[in-house]
Amino acid sequence: MSFLAKGRVLKNQQLADDLYELEFLAPQIALKCHPGKFMQIRVSEQDDPLLRRPLSLYDVDVDSGSISLLYKVVGQGTRIMTSFKPDDTIDVMGPLGNGFTMPNYPLNAILVGGGVGIAPLMYLARWLILLDCQVKVLYGANTAGELVASDRFSRLGVELEVATLDGSAGYHGPVTDLLKDQDPHEVDSFYTCGPEMMMAEVAEYVACNYLWGECSLEEHMACGVGACLGCARKLKPADVDYVKICKDGPVFNVQAVEF
Ligand code: FES
Repeated sequence: MSFLAKGRVLKNQQLADDLYELEFLAPQIALKCHPGKFMQIRVSEQDDPLLRRPLSLYDVDVDSGSISLLYKVVGQGTRIMTSFKPDDTIDVMGPLGNGFTMPNYPLNAILVGGGVGIAPLMYLARWLILLDCQVKVLYGANTAGELVASDRFSRLGVELEVATLDGSAGYHGPVTDLLKDQDPHEVDSFYTCGPEMMMAEVAEYVACNYLWGECSLEEHMACGVGACLGCARKLKPADVDYVKICKDGPVFNVQAVEF
């Protein structure tokens, strides 16, 4: 069940050149949130679905009723979002889509995130820790300055390994290179979100080691609720049917997707 609601902006903080964290108060929605689901944020006064932006839940505090979203400025809509100020009222809709599968027992999980794709893995890590899981996060970005979620992960108490393409922090190279240092016998499940090339390598690792994993896909979206077909996609080229990323996803089993 999702809600249309008004959210009161608490902060809209620039974390890096083009990365921002938007935090707003929406207690009724916070109660319904689940890792992997997303919000649609209206960025204009006009009631046009194209003027909403889909953003994964980055973090949620049910007690205070606050919801945080991590976003990257990639176009006009997200550029408008940077003008949101504390105490502004914004139109929000959500939580939408499905979410990550939560384990029934404490497991060892590895979360692999790249760039702004780290967003849904933060809230997931929070839930997994509450479920007594062992959580390791492999976090990649272009530069040290873009590793904006590192401190928050450290405060959560997860094991964190970082990689940067320019070598300015952690391992020098793609985050998927860190997979070769993991012992697949000590991992139960993988969760990943980020560039599709990165997720393809995670999917290959999962398949080669007979593991289980889920990925969160990004797609252009308009309505966000399965009505416009704007996000329709075949998960594998040979599939007969299309899925709607907004409604059937954005989370899928990694083996179901050909990247
Ligand atoms: Fe409209 Fe998915 S965004 S169907």
